[in-house]
Amino acid sequence: MDEKIREIQAGMAAYTGCDVDEFKRLFTGKNGAINALFAEFKSLPGPEKAKYGKVLNQLKQEGQAWQNSLAEAQKVNVKVDRPDDLTLPGEPHFQGSRHPLAIIQTRINSIFSKIGFAIAEGPEIEDDWHNFSALNIPEDHPARDMQDTFFLEDGKVLRTHTSNVQIRVMETQAPPIRILAPGKVFRNETVSARAHAFFHQVEGLYVNENVSFPDMVQDLDYFGKQMFGSQTKIRLRPSYFPFTEISAEIDVSCMICGGDGCNICKYTGWVEILGCGMVDPNVLENCGIDSNIYSGYAFGMGIERIAMLIYGVNDLRLFSQNDIRFLQQFESIHPF
Ligand code: PHE
Repeated sequence: MDEKIREIQAGMAAYTGCDVDEFKRLFTGKNGAINALFAEFKSLPGPEKAKYGKVLNQLKQEGQAWQNSLAEAQKVNVKVDRPDDLTLPGEPHFQGSRHPLAIIQTRINSIFSKIGFAIAEGPEIEDDWHNFSALNIPEDHPARDMQDTFFLEDGKVLRTHTSNVQIRVMETQAPPIRILAPGKVFRNETVSARAHAFFHQVEGLYVNENVSFPDMVQDLDYFGKQMFGSQTKIRLRPSYFPFTEISAEIDVSCMICGGDGCNICKYTGWVEILGCGMVDPNVLENCGIDSNIYSGYAFGMGIERIAMLIYGVNDLRLFSQNDIRFLQQFESIHPF
């Protein structure tokens, strides 16, 4: 028995043909050598049976494995062996592509890096201080309801905005500070075409002596023109954020209709892109920065929102569904 098993093993290993049917006939098929051994096995005495049962099953698996790899090789060979018909249509070849959010993100980074902003990062699991309290949002303050929060069992939260990075940077760096903080944020929202529990923001922060509101307007006007085209105008609307005083929201003239009115801008000629304002002196002080010497501005924008405007995407969920038909449309777009 041992002898025969070794012979079959050696035979399979030495098989140099590429014909699966022949291999089956010789080894793994109904009339192959392995099955013949199983027939012999049936008439073995009891103790021998115990010994060879397992060995034979292993042999059978080995044979199956050889056969499978042979079949694989045969498939490949069929393709390679037929270069003769040059009129056959080519096979489609997916090139791979950047994710639209990555494209937009890279572009935002590069626009701000030209005016001196460095990239900063902060944690997605954040404590109450950095996500809320240090940002002038005390406990029980109604402003906490502005953003629906995922609370974790240890009292931490999934950050609801990238503004936590403002605090982390100001706590550890001395002005002048000029940072851009892209990242994921989380809100306890029902997922729909317009809202998602998980999306991306970019935070900007500039702190120095004599930073003024017009500095912010000028930098964001530059951003608007770089991002959406040189004809783009921005406008400011008064707004409220606990961590900025004064606060504003910025609209850009609609990049689709140029301000004439269309369904993207809901016939107003303007689309909202970000929130901003002068860093509240309380926030500077919370981070140990003297608000008598320093001032700053901050802004935050949603990356999905910008991507939707630029690419005309009308459903937020598309960004996280990984549908290849959606992603392939960005194949030829490269960030700049
Ligand atoms: N954190 C704010 C939001 O998520 C955006 C913002 C950032 C506003 C910085 C002002 C300054 O809505």
